[in-house]
Amino acid sequence: MKVDGKNIRTIWFDESDKIVKIIDQRKLPHELAIVDLKTVDDAIHAIKEMYVRGAPLIGVTGAYAVYLAALNAPNGQISTDYLKHEARRIKSARPTAVNLAWGVDRVLSEILTISDPAKKIDSAINISAAITELEVENCRKIGEHGLSLIEQISHQKEGKTVNVLTHCNAGWLACIEYGTATAPIYAAFDKGIDIHVWVDETRPLNQGTRLTAWELGKHGVDHTIITDNAGGHLMQHAMVDMVIVGTDRTTAAGDVANKIGTYLKALAAWDNNIPFYVALPSSTFDWNLKDGVKDIPIEQRDPAEIKFVHGLSQDGQASVLICPQTSQAANFAFDVTPAKFVTGFITERGICKATEDDIRRLFPDKDR
Ligand code: MRU
Repeated sequence: MKVDGKNIRTIWFDESDKIVKIIDQRKLPHELAIVDLKTVDDAIHAIKEMYVRGAPLIGVTGAYAVYLAALNAPNGQISTDYLKHEARRIKSARPTAVNLAWGVDRVLSEILTISDPAKKIDSAINISAAITELEVENCRKIGEHGLSLIEQISHQKEGKTVNVLTHCNAGWLACIEYGTATAPIYAAFDKGIDIHVWVDETRPLNQGTRLTAWELGKHGVDHTIITDNAGGHLMQHAMVDMVIVGTDRTTAAGDVANKIGTYLKALAAWDNNIPFYVALPSSTFDWNLKDGVKDIPIEQRDPAEIKFVHGLSQDGQASVLICPQTSQAANFAFDVTPAKFVTGFITERGICKATEDDIRRLFPDKDR
């Protein structure tokens, strides 16, 4: 996507140095810092500490991490045991987004069939690059399909502003380009539709305030940051036409894990008859799970993320304590919205209802 006139992605392979480069998203919106990933440990650290975050981006980073593992194998011996061990370490960096295992396994399964070490490394790079382009294309298509929903609302409102509410950051920063939830928004904006986005701040790490607001602003999309608890009020007062969120893992039966607080937005949308859409590439479906509330692993992160707030001070970026030092905090990073509260899924293959039958209709080729 364009930032101040320059094209940039969230992750890319640097041919000359044979390393991977990423945006350090912890520093946004105050600094656009680029970081090198040279080793598998660098990649694991970047995923855990959320230099990179968002399900599709974690998936692609996981793929490149397998390349980095192969590149740095001790004594150049890229044994099967070593690769499997490193793949397990990468996959355990964050538990909720299923894209991580998807990206890692895609590269791993392919390079395990190759014996020549140099070819293994080349293949790991080629597959990672292919996965990257696949996810870019999937997000572009999500935008195309989701656009039709926004066009319908704009038509019903006779061209008046379409108000979309989104939670967390499911924008291009969470992916490579376009985003998932934001892809239809960018497509509508680019088509000249009058659109405005309510951006949930998304405590504790403020992905909405820091990241969604930043990228929408850079694209010129009108937006307003709201507190996490404001959405229900806005919905009661007809100030929201639709909700679009992303997801970290969605079961074959349509239960949606996404950033903590998504469930409450879905309940409010349900109560106010407001369409609640989830945008996702097929890499975010977990075809093996059905009961999301019971079966999707929910990451619990460091309580310090709740107790401290990070921002820009006169002396640069800093964290400040906002609660009694001794209070406990519990940091559940995701929740699950049951399928019955989801109006539909916007995928690269089109839009479907949140039912197993309709999901399978779009994806008959996916494993059970
Ligand atoms: O903890 P994060 O920032 O990785 O959580 C990200 C989200 O919950 C996104 O909404 C989700 O990954 C969808 S991304 C296109």
